[in-house]
Order: sequence, then structure tokens, then C-alpha cells
Amino acid sequence: MQFQIERLNEIKDEHISLLLLADPSEKLIREYCQSGLIFAMNNDNELIGIIVLLPFGEESIEIKNIAVGESYQGKGYGKQLLKHGIGFAKQNEYKRIRIGTGNSSLNQLGLYQKCGFRMIRIYKDFFIRNYEEEIVENGIQCRDMVILEMEF
Ligand code: COA
Repeated sequence: MQFQIERLNEIKDEHISLLLLADPSEKLIREYCQSGLIFAMNNDNELIGIIVLLPFGEESIEIKNIAVGESYQGKGYGKQLLKHGIGFAKQNEYKRIRIGTGNSSLNQLGLYQKCGFRMIRIYKDFFIRNYEEEIVENGIQCRDMVILEMEF
């Protein structure tokens, strides 16, 4: 597996397309990318994946978005991007890193727990209240937001 990870100062359309895989709201994506820290994973000039981190409170940082291009998924790149985010949080002396996902996102729930995240909270009916269209994954309706956190 060959890749480089670099910090981006601005996002282009190709980054937005990738981020839309994880978050259907381009408006929200543009908002958190403005104040967030954006890291792109490339292989030579090919974009593989992207992760956006946003500090909150004094000691915490949240993964607002993580996405790997469809043709690269399932090959370990997501795990490496996640490890990069965790490493960044540790190096910059944050006390915890957080990520939220849907109750129906089984692969993501698996991946985050394999990387050391623990479930700490559930916002019931979050997706029903905040998204107009019904979301179904793995035959399960996406209703609740599951918050996972790792303390250092
Ligand atoms: N149960 C348990 N673990 C699972 C799993 C499942 N059903 N499906 C995948 N995993 C595990 C893999 O086994 C792997 O662990 P391993 O290395 O121990 O085998 C781990 O998840 C990571 O897989 P990886 O190949 O690194 O994931 P990826 O490159 O596909 O990236 C996403 C993961 C989620 C970033 C990527 O699939 C993606 O961009 N999806 C669309 C956008 C999205 O949903 N983003 C997250 C929003 S919360």
C-alpha cells in the first residue's frame, strides 16, 4: 500500500465529491472545511481519501468527515487515514478524539472500534430529525447517531 498524506489549505471539487460520500450536505461540508483541518491521502497525483478534523472545546477534536474513493475502499486506506487523525490529535496534545456515525453504518462502527474508539452516547432519531430522505444501510433504517470517542 503506497500513499502520502498532506494537509490542504483549500478544497477543490474533487475533494467535495469525495466528502459527499460520507455527508450528503455540501453546505455543511463547506462550513466545517472552512475552520477544520483537512488532510488528503494521495498516491502520486491520484486522490485516495480525505479526513477533516475540527477542534471543539479546549481539549477535544472531532472527525467531521472521513471518506475513501469507492474504488479504493476495503483495502485498508480508511484505517490508515483514521490512524493519521488519531496521531495528529495525540501530537497536538488533545485529550480525546470523537467521531459520530449512524446506527446502520455497521462497517464504520466495526472500523472505529477496531481502531480503539468506544461508544459513549446515542442521539436518538438524529437522522430522522435532520435529514429529509430516509436512509437505509445494510437493511437497517438509519435513525440514531452513535458517538464514539477515544481518550488519550
Ligand atoms: N465488521 C467489522 N469490521 C469491518 C466491517 C464489518 N462489517 N467492514 C469493514 N471492517 C473493517 C475491515 O475489516 C478493516 O479492518 P481490518 O484491517 O482489521 O480487517 C477496517 O474495517 C478498515 O477497513 P478499510 O479498508 O481501512 O476501510 P476503507 O478504506 O473502506 O475506509 C470508510 C472506510 C468508511 C472511510 C470508507 O468505506 C468510506 O469512505 N465509506 C463512505 C463514506 C463513509 O461512510 N464515511 C464515514 C462516515 S461516518
